[in-house]
Order: sequence, then C-alpha cells, then structure tokens
Amino acid sequence: MPTLDWIGKRAVVNHHKAVPYRLVKCDQELSAGAAGEGNLLVEGDNLHALKALLPYYGGKVKCIYIDPPYNTGNEGWIYNDNVNAPEIKRWLGQVVGKEAEDLSRHDKWLCMMYPRLVLLRQFLSKDGSIWISIDDNEVQNLRALMDEIFGKQRFVATCIWQKRYSRENREAIGDVHEYLVVYAENPELFKQSRNRVPLTEEQAKIYKNPNDDPRGRWRGIPMTAQGYRPNQMYEIHTPAGVVHKPPEGRCWSTIEPEFLKLKAEGRIYFGKDQKSQPSVIRYLSEVEGFVPWTWWPHDEVGHTDESRKEVQSIFGTQTAFDTPKPTRLMKRVLEIATNPGDLVLDSFGGSGTTGHAVLQLNKEDGGSRRFILVEMEQKIARDITAERLKRVIAGYGETPGSGGGFRYCTLGEPLFDERGQIAEAVKFADLAHHVFFTETGEPLPPVGRVVLCPPPNANKRRARSDAPYPRSPLLGVHNGRAIYLLFNGILDDKKPSGGNVLTNDVLKHLPPHTGPRVIYGTACRLSANRLKREGITFRQIPYEIKTE
Ligand SMILES: C[S@@+](CC[C@H](N)C(=O)[O-])C[C@H]1O[C@@H](n2cnc3c(N)ncnc32)[C@H](O)[C@@H]1O
Repeated sequence: MPTLDWIGKRAVVNHHKAVPYRLVKCDQELSAGAAGEGNLLVEGDNLHALKALLPYYGGKVKCIYIDPPYNTGNEGWIYNDNVNAPEIKRWLGQVVGKEAEDLSRHDKWLCMMYPRLVLLRQFLSKDGSIWISIDDNEVQNLRALMDEIFGKQRFVATCIWQKRYSRENREAIGDVHEYLVVYAENPELFKQSRNRVPLTEEQAKIYKNPNDDPRGRWRGIPMTAQGYRPNQMYEIHTPAGVVHKPPEGRCWSTIEPEFLKLKAEGRIYFGKDQKSQPSVIRYLSEVEGFVPWTWWPHDEVGHTDESRKEVQSIFGTQTAFDTPKPTRLMKRVLEIATNPGDLVLDSFGGSGTTGHAVLQLNKEDGGSRRFILVEMEQKIARDITAERLKRVIAGYGETPGSGGGFRYCTLGEPLFDERGQIAEAVKFADLAHHVFFTETGEPLPPVGRVVLCPPPNANKRRARSDAPYPRSPLLGVHNGRAIYLLFNGILDDKKPSGGNVLTNDVLKHLPPHTGPRVIYGTACRLSANRLKREGITFRQIPYEIKTE
C-alpha cells in the first residue's frame, strides 16, 4: 500500500504522547448564559487543549467537525491561513528541530495536522464520525493522512460543497467548491445510525392539502410501475364509475388486496372529479427525508456570501472574521451526524459557527446537543467566538435568542512537572480524571465525574472546593476493577499527607468492592502477600501514574 512521507514525519508521529496533560481553568467572567449546560469554549492551541480534554471526553464525541487552515499561502488576514502563525512556527521549531528549516509549506501543514488528528480520533465514540472541511490545496494529503491515522476502511465519503453561486472568472477553470471529507469510527454503524436530510420548505412545496385532509399535507404518487406482472393487472373502478386498466407497457404498483386496503384507509386519490387514474397518497409527516449524498449545493446549505452576511448581521461588519462557514452548512452536518443529547467537537473554532449551529438546532428540535470549541488566537476566541455565541444565546437584531450558555476556559499548567512530580495547583478532581482515564482508557463514569469547571457555588455545601461529586476515593469501577485514589487527604485525615498512604486503617475506611482493586497512593504499608490476598494492585503516586 502506498504510504505518505514528508520531512519531519518521524518527529511528529508520536508527538501526541509527549504533549503534557494540562489543567483546564474556567473563566467565569468570559462565560455566558446557562454556563452549566456543558458547552465549552477553550482558548488555546488545540494540541494542548485536546490532550487536556481527553480524560474528560475521550470516546464520548459523536461528531467532530474541523475547518483547519487550508494552507493557501494567503497572508495578511486577521486569521492567517498558512501555517506560519507564530505559535505553530515555535512549535515546529521545538518538535521538528533543525529539520524544520527545510520544510515546505506542505511538510509544515502535515506536521501540524498529524498529532492533532491522532488525538481527535481518541475522542470519537463508537458510532461517531469526523467531518473535515478542506480544499484542493491539501485534500490529497488529508486523505492520505486520514487513511494512515483512521484507516482506509473508515472512509465514508468526500462531499462537495458548492461554496459560490456566481462564476469565478479569474482562473482557467473557476473554483466554486470545497470538500467535506468524512470518516467514521465504524462506517457500518454510522450508516445505520445517521439521519436522513430533512426536506427544505422548497422541496416540501409539492405536498398540498386541497381536500383539507385532517392528516395534513400530502402528494399523490401515480400508482403504476413499469413491466407486466399478472397479479398487478386488475381493473380499478373509480367512485365516479370510470374503469381503469394499467396504461400500455405498465402494471399497477401494488397487488389488488393491498390496493383495496389503501382505498379503505382513504389513501387513494382519483382526482377532484373522482374519475382520474389512481394515485397513492403520501403524507408529508411520513416523509423521513433524503439519504444524504455527496452533492451539497449552495441553495441547500448556504455559500460564502451568506456566511459573510451572517457575520455582518451578528457583528455589524463583514470584516470581523474572514473565513466563516455558513451556519446552514454546519446544521446539515449536525442533522446527519447527531441526535439530541450528542456531543460535538470543533477544534479549529474560528468564528464559532459550529457552536451557533448547535444552539440553533437545539432550539429548533428541543435537543440538548453540547459543543466543545477550541480556538488558538486569544483575540479571535474572546472578541469573535465568545462574542458570537453570546449574541446568539441572547438574540441579535431581529433574531431571537437561542438560550443556553457556555463556559470559557483557558489552559493551565501541566499536571506533572519536568521531574514527574504533581504540580501544586492540581486538585483531587483533576488527578481523579487523569488517573481513571489513563488506567482504563475511559473518562470517569458519571457517579464520580465532576463538571469541568463547576460554577462557584457548586461546592458550597462541601468542605473543599476541589472535591468531586460524590467525594470519595473510589473513582469508579471499570470491567469489574475498582479504581481508588488517595490524594490530598481525601479521607479527611487532618495530617498534611494523611490518608494518602495505604495502611490497614485506611483500607478499612475505603468504600468496599468485591473484585480486583487498583489503589493509587503516595505509599503502601501493606505487605505484598496481604495485597495479593485482598486482590489489590497498588500504584505509587506520582511514579506509577501514566503521563503519556
Ligand atoms: C478556517 S478557520 C475556522 C472557521 C470556522 N469554521 C468558522 O466557521 O468560523 C480556522 C481557525 O482555526 C484557528 N486555529 C488555527 N490553528 C489552530 C490551533 N492549532 N489550535 C486552535 N485553533 C487553531 C484559527 O485561528 C482560525 O480561527
């Protein structure tokens, strides 16, 4: 099988492991609306943000959408579309080293994308899908990267989005489209669970109700089919006494008993005069929508002009953000790939169109989808992404508010310092998430989980603001194994390091579990034999905590 290689590849294939797990800090002032609903906007480089969020959301995201830099080489915008952003340059210098000086623009793009896609894959749920906007600058490299990281067998489709409706005359062949490259963790499961595309009002126009049918709007589908089938060649008598036989070369589309049943249910239409050939009535309420296809025309999902106008209507100026996607395009992705209650991740947040579409769709169908957006540029994250979400939530111009809210987060220090010691700022809840995830590969189950950045009054009634809910050294049970953490005096021992050492007394106070137990603590006073008898695996903090 052909493989993709480029200068710098060796340096980045395992780089995601070296990225430290960081603390995620909530900024109450920059958050908005009902902040506890689970929506997050994280300011920071997505490489670090994704690693920090993994213990909380690994394997839980139903739909990832990303709109990474297209690598067009265009400079001078508010958002610089090539990979020469200072943060990325610094990162390439550090990770790829001296070799970075010889990298072409495509090498740099591949170096930037590789570790991010590796991390993104770890967020996808078993029935999840990832959608990537891209154009011809990098589409072939993206496909090769995705085949390598996700596997060829997970490819679903490349959709074509008609981004422009007017002719583009500057090029030899005018460029009016972009791509949406789609992969799914399990394409068969995705096929079974993805939704159909709802009809637009334009498409629904053919459904009418000329006879005030209480079952609503409908259309008549001629009851004939091509060919000759003996049991579909019967005579039909209309209420006005006209007798019909199938037209030349055709038969009825259904057998006689089925026709009579439909007629009894009032689902056969013979025209206003009750004399015409029969049609089967199909109600709009029964139409499930279309199976999605790869052609996404601008009249169905919007175009770049429309997205600029959206930015204008939200911010009062079109220049607030240069490369927004239309909200309708994002809504279409969400309609196909999510259901109410699902989690959506966009790690190249930009103007926040994905968050906007989630809020809007929830308002329309009463759903409770949640979003996580990541945006690297502080100015964009605060002045554009957060501001857009705030306006959508509260309403802008003539547009009523969607309701909802989001938490604004920044990235804090790494959980572990260069010597592998746990940073002072790390609280029980932070380490609990980390330990459970690295031990099991799953986020902490709901019973032990804390809301990422709980609101200030969430822990009022608890003695310590860093305590998870419920506050217990038993983090959770995974495949029959219970995971415990003794840290920060979780057992309320008054001594500074009290309760962090596994002693006879501490063991007596631990919530019971029948089955194997893994206990993390700073030291263990029990003998190897005793541990074996009790079915306990002891792991010493910090040395036996996985940091990769
Ligand atoms: C093409 S724009 C996304 C536009 C977005 N889909 C919209 O509709 O507004 C890409 C965004 O990703 C951000 N970005 C680029 N590299 C990033 C990184 N490493 N981490 C997080 N954000 C990044 C850029 O600052 C830019 O705002």
